[in-house]
Amino acid sequence: MTADNRFWNSVYQSGQENRYPWDYIVSFIYNFKPNIEASKTNILELGCGTACNLWFCAREGFNVYGLDYSSHAIQKCEERFQAEKLTGEFRCGDFTKIPWADSTFHLVLDRGSLTCASFTEITNAFDDIFRVLKPGGRFIFSPYARTHTSASSGVYKQETRLVSNIDAGSLQGIEQICFFDEKQIYEVIGNKWNILDIELLTKEKLHENMKSIHAEYHVVLEKPY
Ligand SMILES: C[S@@+](CC[C@H](N)C(=O)[O-])C[C@H]1O[C@@H](n2cnc3c(N)ncnc32)[C@H](O)[C@@H]1O
Repeated sequence: MTADNRFWNSVYQSGQENRYPWDYIVSFIYNFKPNIEASKTNILELGCGTACNLWFCAREGFNVYGLDYSSHAIQKCEERFQAEKLTGEFRCGDFTKIPWADSTFHLVLDRGSLTCASFTEITNAFDDIFRVLKPGGRFIFSPYARTHTSASSGVYKQETRLVSNIDAGSLQGIEQICFFDEKQIYEVIGNKWNILDIELLTKEKLHENMKSIHAEYHVVLEKPY
C-alpha cells in the first residue's frame, strides 16, 4: 500500500462510518482476552477507522488504543469518545511502523485493514505486531479470501499481490485488496507464532441478480511466552 491516505480519508469525509462492533471481534475478545481485569487489559486496533470496535471495548472497561493513517478517521474517533465520555488513545500512522513500545498490548485487532495493504507490507506489519504484543498476547487477522467474488473482478498485480479496480462483489469500489489463499495465510504467519485458530467464512448470496460470494479468513495467533 502506498503511504497515501486519500482513498480512506475521502470515505470518512463523505460521512461513511461503522458505528457498531463486528460480531467476530466481539467473539474474539470474549474468547481470547487475558484472565485479568478489563481495566488492566490493553487493546490495540490497527486501521481502527472510526473506532466501532474500540468503542465496544472502551464501554467494556478495557484500555483502548487505535491507529489509522486517515486523519479524518482519527478525528472522528476522538470526537465520539469525547462526546460519550470514553477514554482512548488514537494516533495517525502506518501499521507497518506501530508507534508504541515493545510488549505493550494484550490483544491486537485487525478488522479488514491489513488486507488493504500489499503482501510485503502485511508481512512487515506482522513483525511489528509481534514486537508490540506482550508474551502470551493474541492477535486477530481478517484478510479476504481469493474465493471472494471481488477477487476476480479487478486487476491483479503480481508484484504487490494487490487487486485494484474492483467492480463486483461486496468490496466493489474499495481501492485495493490483497486476497489470500491458505498457502499465503501460512506464508505470512511464518514460524514464530502459536496458531490458535484459522477459519474460512464464506457467505453466498443466492438471489438472481445478487449472486456473489463473500469470503474471509479469521486467523487467531498468540505470541509465545
Ligand atoms: C475497511 S476499513 C476498517 C476500519 C475498522 N477496522 C472497522 O472495522 O470499521 C480499513 C481501515 O484501514 C486503514 N488503513 C489502511 N491501510 C493502512 C495503513 N497502512 N496504516 C494504517 N491504517 C491503514 C484505513 O484508513 C481504514 O480506516
